[in-house]
Amino acid sequence: MSVLTARTTLRKSETTCTIIHGDSRTELAEFVGQVDLIVTSPPYADARRKHYDGVHPDEYVDWFLSFHEPYFNALKPTGSLIINIKDKVVDGVRHRFVWHTIEALCERGWFAIEDYLWHKTNPMPGFWPTRLRDGWEYCFHLAKSKRPYFNSDAVRKPIGDWVDTRLNKLGQNDLSRHNSVNDSGFGRDISKWVGRDTVLPSNVISSEAPDEEEFTRAEGTPSNVISRALVGKNKGHPAVFPVELPAFFIKLLCPEDGLVVDPFGGSGTTGIAALSLGRNCVLIDNNAQYCGEAIRRLCDEGGAEKEEDIIQQSLYEIKQ
Ligand SMILES: C[S@@+](CC[C@H](N)C(=O)[O-])C[C@H]1O[C@@H](n2cnc3c(N)ncnc32)[C@H](O)[C@@H]1O
Repeated sequence: MSVLTARTTLRKSETTCTIIHGDSRTELAEFVGQVDLIVTSPPYADARRKHYDGVHPDEYVDWFLSFHEPYFNALKPTGSLIINIKDKVVDGVRHRFVWHTIEALCERGWFAIEDYLWHKTNPMPGFWPTRLRDGWEYCFHLAKSKRPYFNSDAVRKPIGDWVDTRLNKLGQNDLSRHNSVNDSGFGRDISKWVGRDTVLPSNVISSEAPDEEEFTRAEGTPSNVISRALVGKNKGHPAVFPVELPAFFIKLLCPEDGLVVDPFGGSGTTGIAALSLGRNCVLIDNNAQYCGEAIRRLCDEGGAEKEEDIIQQSLYEIKQ
């Protein structure tokens, strides 16, 4: 296990990830106006109480609003905030603290740009009297302006096999915009897809991309590494999300020379994604053990090295 100081900087090539042990409400003060993207998964209400402080669903809005100003101030005017979260069943019904939290944030100046769904292809097995297995979570995209930085080309994916079969059979109706058979008013012009090999993904981030090994190998490529959205494996932390989830939003919402922050950094998943994609990153967590785990993962899985190790190494090289 790495020795933890309040702040540890790791490096991969020209990119750095700084892990800060502290409360993100105070630690973010030094990043005012510098952050392009905050992508994070806060503690869910009343969850993981054995591991870190739980927040009661009735108190969740007020608790989350204590992060509003630090987040808002840290972001650049073109910046975005992605909140991965799920609501909770209380006494047999869905408690709506998540919706109320998003509404409260919007009342304070955030723009609700989009609601993404993370489709979990392997949800927890079980039986519930009035519900099925829970197969998705929210990823809310909020921003300081209505036109945040947005690079949809960076998340394009291969158009898929249907093009070959469908385009080979183009009929007369396909060659110009044509009203649909059921008169729904939705026209189609399939011919516009001729010669294209990528398409924009939808706002459901789902399991159709390469596995984690392929993700690492495919780093830097512009399109199809968005979303093998399996539940993150438990790596010294009880609530890890998959690397592909923050990676998707980093490509979409953070310019290549931008700064990503995860203010509930946990085991460092966002840092692994950011370093893979060449973005500088700051992770903040108020639990020392999780900061240590983040350092370990970033080195073992993310290919990062501690700055002091790099300095030691270069001193050694000078001596040689
Ligand atoms: C859901 S977990 C994040 C897990 C992370 N996405 C991962 O993949 O490992 C939420 C984290 O927020 C941290 N946390 C809770 N309150 C915090 C605060 N005020 N400041 C910083 N971190 C906090 C907890 O220690 C926990 O590790």
